[in-house]
Amino acid sequence: MSEQAKIQLPELEHESAIITGSEDEKAFDITKLRPNTGHITLDPGYGNTGACISDITFIDGEKGILRYRGYPIEQLAEQCKFTEICYLLLYGDLPTEEQQQQFSSRIKQEQNIHEDMKRFFDGFPITAHPMAILSAMITSLSAYHESTDISDIEKIDADIIRLLGRVKSFAAFSYRKSHGLPYIYPQQDLSYVENFLHMTFSDTQENYKTDPVLAEALNLLLILHADHEQNCSTSTVRMVGSSHANLYTTISAGIGALWGPLHGGANQRVIEMLEEIRDDGSDYKKYVNMAKDKNSDYKLFGFGHRVYKNYDPRAKVLSQVADRVLKALNVDDPLMEIAKNLEEVALNDEYFIARKLYPNVDFYSGIIYKAMGIPTNMFTVMFALGRLPGWLAHWREMILDPKSRINRPRQVYTGPTFRDVTQIKDR
Ligand code: ACO
Repeated sequence: MSEQAKIQLPELEHESAIITGSEDEKAFDITKLRPNTGHITLDPGYGNTGACISDITFIDGEKGILRYRGYPIEQLAEQCKFTEICYLLLYGDLPTEEQQQQFSSRIKQEQNIHEDMKRFFDGFPITAHPMAILSAMITSLSAYHESTDISDIEKIDADIIRLLGRVKSFAAFSYRKSHGLPYIYPQQDLSYVENFLHMTFSDTQENYKTDPVLAEALNLLLILHADHEQNCSTSTVRMVGSSHANLYTTISAGIGALWGPLHGGANQRVIEMLEEIRDDGSDYKKYVNMAKDKNSDYKLFGFGHRVYKNYDPRAKVLSQVADRVLKALNVDDPLMEIAKNLEEVALNDEYFIARKLYPNVDFYSGIIYKAMGIPTNMFTVMFALGRLPGWLAHWREMILDPKSRINRPRQVYTGPTFRDVTQIKDR
């Protein structure tokens, strides 16, 4: 018998179960609230709303904890390959060597894009934002492949693998397009991360040689971004997927949500902000004051998080890695010093302390991407590449859950009450 709790309403009481998660998280089950009482709950921004039960990722925002399927992010980031993390998120456990080999080779078989689709890239202007290209290309897969038969687990997994293979190629092609460079095909003997670097940066006239510093940094960045439970883009994927829309459109909707500057688009904004501060004489205190000024809508990108009220554990890893990568790549970026100063101020300033605003994952990721030679407008594409397995794992979990229903929130209506239509001449 589960624990029970009661809501006292003006004229009646509603009793229902407390649902307890494996980390002792508590939720009050309100699924029968409206049928039994006529009341709904109101939670704009969903700060208190659990939209699903999930086995994939655990976050304790107060303590700064992030775990995929129980494994702490710090250990995964240090010891695993990105494709192992994809497997872990999708299927619940880290792969054995044999499983990993099979999984990677299935992804490799799916990394070539249809030759016709190459021509799509020619149609985009050279100035097109790579997120626009990525989203369009992923949706276009719906024109080449049938909608997933969601009653067939093999087809579900085949389509998931197809996306894991293709999206990397779309991302690399969009870089080549924006630089006016010829497209480069993947190589079978390269890993996922190496293939992305090869397809993005290789010179067509020379044999490709992986730079281990770049490969290690990219692997780590992708792992840190791989999942983050019910964030805006993942919730979007669950929302769109709940109507049984095809998987490609569903993932493309996630790309759209991620692009927003309050979510994944913040990584691009962070670098633009740091560059603006640099060009303005590095007077970072001026920008901190603007962010604190309630008469200005300026905010410091890369700070704050809905869930973390402590240091974002991903940002903690990245702040250490940023120094290492810049040193290994021999990059001396003045933006790093501005970033450190901003962080220092934020961690000691009463405004940020009172609101528990810490650097988030986007704060240092851009500095690393920049050092790796990835252009600013590609940063959110890199985030999407990392987050893809998370979206796919959540979609898979939802589609395979026999209890899942179409997502359809309610509202409190505050518009006009009943009124009659008058003739146009009398209005
Ligand atoms: N700079 C200055 N003040 C901030 C910032 C910031 N970056 N973030 C929040 N605040 C302030 C708000 O003004 C508010 O102040 P108030 O209580 O005096 O009104 C308070 O902190 C609480 O902030 P909310 O906006 O209510 O927090 P919410 O949970 O709704 O938003 C969000 C979280 C969107 C991340 C917000 O902190 C933000 O806009 N940050 C900058 C954008 C960013 O870095 N986004 C990436 C997030 S991580 C990710 O998606 C991968």
